[in-house]
Amino acid sequence: MKFRKNILCIGAGYVGGPTMAMIAYKCPQYRVTVVDINPIRIAEWNSDDLPIYEPGLGEIVKAARGKNLFFSTDIEGGIRDNDIIFVSVNTPTKTFGAGAGMAADLQYWEKTARQILQYSESTKIVIEKSTLPVKTALAMEKILNYTKNSVSFDVLSNPEFLAEGSAIKDLENPDRILIGCQDTKSGLAARETLVEIYANWVPREKIITSNIWSSELSKIVSNAFLAQRISSINAISALCEKTDADITEVSKAVGMDSRIGSKFLSASVGFGGSCFKKDILNLVYLCQHYGLHEVADYWESVVRINQYQQERFILNMLTTMFNTLAGKRICLFGFAFKANTGDTRESPAIYITKRLLEEKAEIVITDPKALKNAKADLTGMEGQVSFVEDPYKAAEGCHAIAILTEWDVYRNLDFQKIFNTMTKPASIFDGRNIIDHKRCFDIGFNVYPTGKPALTHS
Ligand code: NAD
Ligand code: UGA
Repeated sequence: MKFRKNILCIGAGYVGGPTMAMIAYKCPQYRVTVVDINPIRIAEWNSDDLPIYEPGLGEIVKAARGKNLFFSTDIEGGIRDNDIIFVSVNTPTKTFGAGAGMAADLQYWEKTARQILQYSESTKIVIEKSTLPVKTALAMEKILNYTKNSVSFDVLSNPEFLAEGSAIKDLENPDRILIGCQDTKSGLAARETLVEIYANWVPREKIITSNIWSSELSKIVSNAFLAQRISSINAISALCEKTDADITEVSKAVGMDSRIGSKFLSASVGFGGSCFKKDILNLVYLCQHYGLHEVADYWESVVRINQYQQERFILNMLTTMFNTLAGKRICLFGFAFKANTGDTRESPAIYITKRLLEEKAEIVITDPKALKNAKADLTGMEGQVSFVEDPYKAAEGCHAIAILTEWDVYRNLDFQKIFNTMTKPASIFDGRNIIDHKRCFDIGFNVYPTGKPALTHS
């Protein structure tokens, strides 16, 4: 069959896989290929056991795979045979050299740009899907257009705004699609080609265009604003605990102001995920680079409050459990950074486990989807950690439960049954405010919500 467009995505991760699956699913007239350097990941994409858990993903992959959606390790062939290339490789925080701990590590991204140059035999549109520091497209263009031959490249910025756990919904019905391009004849034509792809299922008025630098920056700023809301509400949760105010009531009252809005105002044990912290630190680094130190400090405080919230959670456990956790069994309900994903990158659970182990507690971890990743995250950490899938069994004999992920399954557990098997006094620290605190208190637990008065028996 002859396809109308041949699309390649380099990077088969949390973004590349679902995004391309959605394009293939919505556009049977296009052939979509996803390549990756990791052969295990590609083999998993080609199996029934996909490398990531995302509600609804399995169905759309199954519907398109083998028809117009292909996963492969042939990067060279992929670049040669496709004219539209999305780049969705990882851009983690740099861990070495100048900017370590702050700047984006662009080595994977630059390697990809060089591969595209090396294997291209015809004109290409190259689309930045990865989140990148502003002005990265300039570097990409410089690399791609270094050798003057007949092959030319147009670079577009098309950041991804999906959230894990709701990726399929977000991709199917996005708030907006943002496309940035250079203001040149070929840049504008390339932009139109990409608009056409999305217009297969996204209403035109939701497809917005901008200059390329605004597009790159808007992505990082969106994440910074979202994270800032969480740090704002978490900061106020600390004040609520001192004043007997209730954070749920405060966030409801504040969020009903239509200028503020109610989303992203749930107090928590802190935000996690692979992007918020890295993107804010990247923003901070950029501001420092341009000498905007006050702006950098402002945004850095969002990350500081997030760290503070996690440390506060630990210290609350320590002080309320008689200032020692040594030898006490603590059960972590949830290890994923949020519900409906198996992803544990930058999950608060990692830091909390590390700190609890420093206090010489014994940790039992339960999670419906993230135990495999949790085991990998904790390799090499010294101390006693076990992994138990069933939350009832996991809590047996424990002194405390810490709810770290807002999985629905934890909302409606039989807490009486759980209480009966635990060591007394038994405590629950609800880092997500998802359970019925009064009911658990009535059962006999000491209950420590986030940003609300504690309910204790002594
Ligand atoms: P990921 O680590 O899950 O996937 C990246 C993939 O790229 C990996 O499988 C890796 O093997 C592959 N890769 C790296 N170098 C390669 C190369 N030279 N050739 C081929 N493959 C290569 O990362 P992710 O979560 O999908 O994030 C990708 C980008 O998208 C990041 O910039 C991130 O900030 C951004 N983003 C992520 C999310 C999210 O929810 N995870 C949402 C929006 C944007
Ligand atoms: C986030 C953004 O929401 C996406 O738009 C963006 O594309 C993505 O980052 C990215 O660039 O990677 P994600 O990290 O997958 O998506 O998930 P979120 O729903 O944003 O949650 C992030 C963290 O904040 C989670 O740990 C979550 O539990 C926490 N959170 C969220 C709160 O603590 N309180 C809230 O009210 C909302």
